[in-house]
Amino acid sequence: MAKKVGIITSGGDAPGMNAAVRAVTRHGIFLGYQMIGIKRGFRGLLNDEFIPLTLRSVSGIINFGGTMLHTGRCPETKTATGMKRAVKTVKELNLAGLIIIGGDGSLAAGNAFSKHGIEVINIPASIDNDIYGTDETMGYDTALNTAVEAIDKIRDTATSHDRIFVVEIMGREHGFLTLDVGLAAGCEFIVVPEMKVDIQKLAEELKKGKERGKTSEIIAFAEGCGSSAEFAKKLEKLTGLEVRMSNLGYIQRGGRPTARTRILASKFGHAAMNLFNQGKTNVLVGITGGEVSSMSIHNAIKHEKKFDARAVKVLRNLSV
Ligand code: F6P
Repeated sequence: MAKKVGIITSGGDAPGMNAAVRAVTRHGIFLGYQMIGIKRGFRGLLNDEFIPLTLRSVSGIINFGGTMLHTGRCPETKTATGMKRAVKTVKELNLAGLIIIGGDGSLAAGNAFSKHGIEVINIPASIDNDIYGTDETMGYDTALNTAVEAIDKIRDTATSHDRIFVVEIMGREHGFLTLDVGLAAGCEFIVVPEMKVDIQKLAEELKKGKERGKTSEIIAFAEGCGSSAEFAKKLEKLTGLEVRMSNLGYIQRGGRPTARTRILASKFGHAAMNLFNQGKTNVLVGITGGEVSSMSIHNAIKHEKKFDARAVKVLRNLSV
């Protein structure tokens, strides 16, 4: 009898999750495993929602955003009783292990499962790019491109109306996505949780920009810094200029994965099943210096990803 392996997508959806499910399923089957999809994140383990995954059931999904397995956050599995129930289901299903595709919450869950003796491989999938142990999370590149395209459009209005825009970017309590969006969209400033901003000084800089002949100025504002609407209002008062805000919101999570995201998803999924097959479990798959890598989940959750403050200088120097 073939050993069974469970696949879960968990937490916020990220573009490329489908491509990763496809890669894990197909390579798992190639290696001789029977692949089982667990639906709606860890809730599927509590509610007994499973589907067999076959070579054909993962056909035609590489180019779709979202996740065919559905996803969700499951606070119950953060409790001891909830986790016990989830572990019991994994054992009753006779699963040899779990491949968990998701962000930092999924990594914490992977750690908890591994402590209960379940063999786990985590695939980092998040638009936030906030996971230590991988240079890039799957889905990040797609979200980055979506946000940049949106700001390019906002720039048209900003320029035509001589306005300042505060554009809110997702990223939970981190500014990784905001920084790269700012660089790629040529934003004048970024506001991120990793660096304190003096709003008074920022207002002065914005006014100076206008004096230098700038017609538009765009501030990429990370959601982790509080209310972008209030920030915009304050800036309007301090500058006496017209300031508008726009929250990009969930459009950053959806849409067709970019080629880069699909490639990463495929490599991550393939590597995950190879590692599982070799018994190298309880690890996070990643990409480091362009090479597929892996790190123990325990190590990954112990560290914080470093914010690149030098890149903020680059952004400021170039947005004169
Ligand atoms: O982690 C991805 C993310 O989109 C964050 O950027 C954001 O803070 C959060 O999820 C929103 O979560 P929810 O889907 O629960 O509103």
